[in-house]
Amino acid sequence: MRHALVTGATGFIGHHLVQRLLAQGTAVKCLVRSKSRADHLSQLGVTLVQGELEDVSSLSEAVKDADVVYHLAGVTKSVRKSDLMRVNGDGTKNLSLVCSRRNCPPTLVLVSSLAAAGPSTGSEPRIETDPVSPVSCYGRSKRAGELAVMDFADELPVTIVRPPIVFGEHDRDVFQWFRSIDKLGLHFAAGLRDFHYSLIHADDLAWALILAAEQGGRITKDVDDDAGIYYAACDEVMTFSEMGRLIGDCVGRSRTRVVHVPMFMIRGVAVSGDLWARLRGRPTILNLDKTREAAAGSWVCSAAKLQRHTGFVPSMTLQERVLQTAKWYTHENWI
Ligand SMILES: NC(=O)c1ccc[n+]([C@@H]2O[C@H](COP(=O)([O-])OP(=O)(O)OC[C@H]3O[C@@H](n4cnc5c(N)ncnc54)[C@H](OP(=O)(O)O)[C@@H]3O)[C@@H](O)[C@H]2O)c1
Repeated sequence: MRHALVTGATGFIGHHLVQRLLAQGTAVKCLVRSKSRADHLSQLGVTLVQGELEDVSSLSEAVKDADVVYHLAGVTKSVRKSDLMRVNGDGTKNLSLVCSRRNCPPTLVLVSSLAAAGPSTGSEPRIETDPVSPVSCYGRSKRAGELAVMDFADELPVTIVRPPIVFGEHDRDVFQWFRSIDKLGLHFAAGLRDFHYSLIHADDLAWALILAAEQGGRITKDVDDDAGIYYAACDEVMTFSEMGRLIGDCVGRSRTRVVHVPMFMIRGVAVSGDLWARLRGRPTILNLDKTREAAAGSWVCSAAKLQRHTGFVPSMTLQERVLQTAKWYTHENWI
């Protein structure tokens, strides 16, 4: 039986990955910061290890016995910029170090982000050989995580997977679009242009991560070598307006109006969002760092290399996945 460690298992994508791993008979251990907030995981039959990325000693116990370490733990939005680098950069370095100390090191799969590479340029989707150019603090912190694992490329097998926007059941970020469309029939777009986006459902991403662990290439210390780096996305690409209309159809709206809000107004709202986040000590998705990504252009990537190397194919169309997600939000009374 294969043994996997999942970091970030209490998070949105972690939830989907744990379910997938258990369904295929893998023994799953999860690194959690608080066991009391992980009851739902224990009920699934996983082993919990308490620890955090900043605490190297707590990671040794977690990594013990694992054949594969799926590293999902990370900060996607923060009150302080330094938290992004501390967790996504330094925390990833700590985990790599602990993995490398094992006599027989596990395969490490790092869940990075398209943000680590930057927006797509021109009309072509990003591919793994394109030079990276992150535009946000979040993106730079995820790139720092990638560089951290590359430092250990000679000591352990590592694969990096970069997803674009991830959506699906349990998510609270893309959910905001579902909510405003369901409640108001409005889809708020940042800026006056209609950029293109890649997306992936969390369950398809979970499948992509498992395939990357089992059949993917491994990174080398050469930062220009793309072996072992993969984009994971579904084939369909949509403009922001098209996404809004698709969500509208799936939540049963006869008409969804796309409201293009000028970037200066979005920045104003984001400044208030940052202030509000500081006041209550909790980050919000409407922050200045995210506006940098929103203003940067299209975020499209190609999963062709992952498909060629591992046979990855999303199990449903984007439309089917959005409908499935809308049904879940409805069933759970989120909308
Ligand atoms: N969601 C997306 O659209 C998207 C897109 C591309 C890439 N990603 C990447 O995918 C990964 C998972 O994202 P997600 O959306 O599932 O995020 P999430 O729901 O916010 O979950 C984050 C997870 O990381 C854990 N965590 C945070 N700081 C930690 C620390 N210092 N030590 C140990 N664990 C820590 C959290 O634990 P607690 O429960 O204790 O807080 C939680 O389990 C992240 O690395 C993210 O950068 C996400």
